[in-house]
Amino acid sequence: MSLIPYALTRPFLFGLDPETAHDLTLDALARIQHTPLVRLITQRRIDDPVTVAGLRFPNRIGLAAGLDKNGRCIDGFASFGFGFIEVGTVTPRAQAGNAKPRLFRLPQASALINRLGFNNQGLDAFLANVQRARFRSRGGILGLNIGKNADTPIQRAADDYLLGLAGVYPHADYVTVNISSPNTKDLRALQSDAALETLLSVLDERREALAKQYGRRVPLFVKIAPDLDEEQVRVIAATLVKNHIDGVIATNTTIARDAVKGLPHAEQTGGLSGAPVFEPSNRVIRLLRAALRAPYPIIGVGGVMSGADARAKQEAGADLVQVYTGFIYKGPSLVTEAARALAR
Ligand SMILES: Cc1cc2nc3c(=O)[nH]c(=O)nc-3n(C[C@H](O)[C@H](O)[C@H](O)COP(=O)(O)O)c2cc1C
Repeated sequence: MSLIPYALTRPFLFGLDPETAHDLTLDALARIQHTPLVRLITQRRIDDPVTVAGLRFPNRIGLAAGLDKNGRCIDGFASFGFGFIEVGTVTPRAQAGNAKPRLFRLPQASALINRLGFNNQGLDAFLANVQRARFRSRGGILGLNIGKNADTPIQRAADDYLLGLAGVYPHADYVTVNISSPNTKDLRALQSDAALETLLSVLDERREALAKQYGRRVPLFVKIAPDLDEEQVRVIAATLVKNHIDGVIATNTTIARDAVKGLPHAEQTGGLSGAPVFEPSNRVIRLLRAALRAPYPIIGVGGVMSGADARAKQEAGADLVQVYTGFIYKGPSLVTEAARALAR
């Protein structure tokens, strides 16, 4: 238990506009993370070591991408007991993202809708932040998540991913290729057969060169959407294996709205996360596990609100589990609860 109960913090944060609450929290974390004050929020990291994709994870629960897009608060988030932390999505150049408001709470559904659109400070600022973090030297696993700038034409998407890969490579335990955000025009088209094959083959080739250059082969993960049919998941699975991709993260947010129909904000454009994406994401994990037999690494993410939900991801076939929206609704105690539930 941290010394500041989330039951006290949450009403204050939920009284603010969601993006303001987010910015305030990250500012506070960034400010205290390297001071003795961090003890106020520190929770014991559950010890449940497991090797996935050749990496030794101290436990199976991770922070999903997008909460710390610029990698400013890695050590702050580490204090909650995450075994792994994924930061980004970072794009080569800084960009503002979409117009505000662009983040909405649907509390009746334990959900969020966001159309942030990869707002971030760009690769250079990201790398400076990442290099200041101590998390890796304390046994934590750091994932760096890369994407494309909104104004890079989709035909040139690979250029952005190659820039991202080369930049983050020496600082990452693993690199995530994010092709599943609904908030960058045409991004998810990169999941379709020919486009995926082209992108992954150039990334695979560059990774081989980087592995030689740095004397270390950094695992590449691809993050996919929940809004895919069975055949699409099968083709993606085969394309991942063919191009030596080391793992898959399932899933990103959904564009479906059936689960939240009628609720305030339900019709906002963007990606829906939290409880409503739990089952759709489990479905994709099960399809992936059927197509990619163990030990092919699958990281499950989407709608984990409890230890039991984390277990369900594991039962669907996930080796590791990430949280984002559940962390907003339940607070830091979810990290310990889920890590315990996942420990066998
Ligand atoms: C506000 C917000 C921003 C996000 N930004 C990113 C991002 O930049 N890159 C990414 O790969 N996923 C991003 N995601 C998706 C999450 O990492 C996660 O895959 C998704 O929300 C489902 O998990 P959850 O239900 O636990 O939130 C974002 C999610 C939210 C709610």
